[in-house]
Amino acid sequence: MNALHLNIDQVLTFVSKQKLEAYEPAAQAANKALHEGSGKGNDFLGWLHLPSSIEEAFLADIEATAKKLQASCDVVVVAGIGGSYLGAKAVIDALNNSFDWLKTDRTYPAIVYAGHNISEDYLVELSATLANKRFGIINISKSGTTTETALAFRILKAQLEAQVGKEAAKERIVAITDAHKGALRSLANKEGYKTYVIPDNVGGRYSVLTPVGLLPIAVAGHNIRALVAGAVEMEKQCAPETAFDQNPAAQYAVTRNELYRSGKKIEILVNYHPKLHFVAEWWKQLYGESEGKELKGIFPAAVDFSTDLHSMGQWIQEGERSIFETVISIKEANETLHIPSDEANLDGLNYLAGRRVDAVNKMAELGTRIAHVDGAVPNLRIEIPKLDAHNIGSLLYFFEKACGISGYLLEVNPFDQPGVEAYKKNMFALLEKPGFEKETEAIKKRI
Ligand code: PA5
Repeated sequence: MNALHLNIDQVLTFVSKQKLEAYEPAAQAANKALHEGSGKGNDFLGWLHLPSSIEEAFLADIEATAKKLQASCDVVVVAGIGGSYLGAKAVIDALNNSFDWLKTDRTYPAIVYAGHNISEDYLVELSATLANKRFGIINISKSGTTTETALAFRILKAQLEAQVGKEAAKERIVAITDAHKGALRSLANKEGYKTYVIPDNVGGRYSVLTPVGLLPIAVAGHNIRALVAGAVEMEKQCAPETAFDQNPAAQYAVTRNELYRSGKKIEILVNYHPKLHFVAEWWKQLYGESEGKELKGIFPAAVDFSTDLHSMGQWIQEGERSIFETVISIKEANETLHIPSDEANLDGLNYLAGRRVDAVNKMAELGTRIAHVDGAVPNLRIEIPKLDAHNIGSLLYFFEKACGISGYLLEVNPFDQPGVEAYKKNMFALLEKPGFEKETEAIKKRI
């Protein structure tokens, strides 16, 4: 039995148990359709059995490449956007020391990111930071043609070659891309970089357990075997053979769909540990790109508590009643800190003396849950025992599987993202990219 537990008790005053149970045939059929490949987007189901099909030799190869980068670099830049960086950042941030970026006595390289924006300031500041540092680059792009990523890589590659020479730079660059197509594939082949393949049948937002996520996570010094083992456990628990009431992914999918149908159009993913901020960013992409289409889809938002209780708390408690919240609840903090007693007690905090900070955090969580449910915000809770690689692996697969089932319940294709192309077409037209002459002519009339 997996350690992840979904608790929907605080939803049942908003939607009845019977209503949720009535979804059983549809949810089981959706899960079966995923496994039989009979539903929409069935050419992008490579993620389904990914955890259990990862081979020892593959993990060993990733670890060997990670070791090589660890030995030659103090900083590794992960260049990618969307699904090509969010999974890695989510896991690395969740498992790293919060102040890792400040460390000077490093065991593992610092991981920084590029290619996920087009800010000139960001790139200039990054280049300046990397000047005279031993750095490497993991360049990730499935299509191999994404402008943001290609642009950052062009600049960073030139800097690395200028700093260490072309031959040494080659040893510090890894490309993760399509097996055959795209500019990055041709460039990597021509330059002789170490490469990894993103399987054709795994979309960007489902790719965290491919080299896209695994290599950066391993370079950061985290246990990718434990991460994969956690995902394998969840893969088993969410299989179509599992009874509906024992399958947390199916339960999560039906609960959020029923809340959506009852008028709760926004889901906020809540954490009480700032390390989970980017798990929520990853989740936002997963659900936003998978479900937001055909004029449908829950709007996925996220908040960090208790931080955002002091900014968004008012809206959540008393604003328009169109939201529900899903809390990632960590049973126990990894570290222990007891609140000290203070003789003068000028801050009036002695009533907390001797208790753990985590116990105070837990009461903030419980108090908020009760207040929000009183304020008509249904509350789902995903509980994991602690923040470690195994549990994060389970959590990621849980969300992926639930997303597939949820998309099918919503009757959309959860594996495409046609809407993402619209801005690109306009940007290319405005930049007068060769091949976009007609679009350039048309858009110029509108500006
Ligand atoms: O989920 C997706 O498909 C997207 O977010 C992509 O990951 C993102 O656009 C990056 O694409 P690529 O990896 O082709 O550079």
